[in-house]
Amino acid sequence: MAPSVIDSVAGLREAVAAWRRDGLTVALVPTMGALHEGHMALVRAARAHGDRTVVSLFVNPTQFAPDEDFALYPRRQTDDLAKLADAGVEAAFMPPTAAIYPPGFATTVRVEGVTAGLEGASRPHFFDGVGTVVTKLLLQCLPDVALFGEKDYQQLVTVRRLVADLDIPCQIEAVPTVRAADGLALSSRNAYLSVEERRIAPKLFEVLTWMATALGEGAASADAIAQGAAALRDAGFARIDYLAACDAETLEPVVRVDVSARVLAAVWLGETRLIDNVPVSLAS
Ligand code: PAF
Repeated sequence: MAPSVIDSVAGLREAVAAWRRDGLTVALVPTMGALHEGHMALVRAARAHGDRTVVSLFVNPTQFAPDEDFALYPRRQTDDLAKLADAGVEAAFMPPTAAIYPPGFATTVRVEGVTAGLEGASRPHFFDGVGTVVTKLLLQCLPDVALFGEKDYQQLVTVRRLVADLDIPCQIEAVPTVRAADGLALSSRNAYLSVEERRIAPKLFEVLTWMATALGEGAASADAIAQGAAALRDAGFARIDYLAACDAETLEPVVRVDVSARVLAAVWLGETRLIDNVPVSLAS
């Protein structure tokens, strides 16, 4: 069955309240649309965690800098709704911009600390936009659980932080990154890659995996990062925004891995920016 398309906060609250009156739990999957298998893994996890699933589809202008791809960002409403229908989603929340940012809107939700490096350093506007829109979506829907992908690992850590800091009564569940057969993490932005760039792109995962293994076996971060960066450049990634080994919770850089850690990167292939990350498992 096709999901109900809801375009107002009042409509969303009404639907959620009706489910709650029936004793049902609600899971929210926040997305910017252009749904791919990575999003559908979030949807499947949502269906496993809640009785009813809401998927929000909103290309959030405040997380794009003026020179970024907001205008170009893929919008595929009909296709998205068909995928949500196939997946058995009950509601698609598709708010107009004014439902999220009404005239006079003047509030920003800023998470400090975990947003300082990595994406936050390369895209200073990004986490204010994400923090604000995610807070709004959570408060508009008030789900029992919300699902976020590990692909955007720093975003996941940031959302966990803001939910804890603002006492938002919602459980945050992480869903592992979905990859193409050759290892490339699925992303709406992969659609921008040329044939040649798409051939090179999986090397990012290859290099991160190599680094994670080396770090797990005791290599110093500085050495793994230097070798990883050289391998990425050799593969054809002309620009590296960051390549780092960080504590998995604080996202502070680690010198040598002795706790739970993650290797994270943002790199460019032509005009396309790719991000990815992998966990480091300590060799036993
Ligand atoms: O990960 C995304 O698609 C977006 O950053 C999110 C969480 C939907 C907020 O706009």
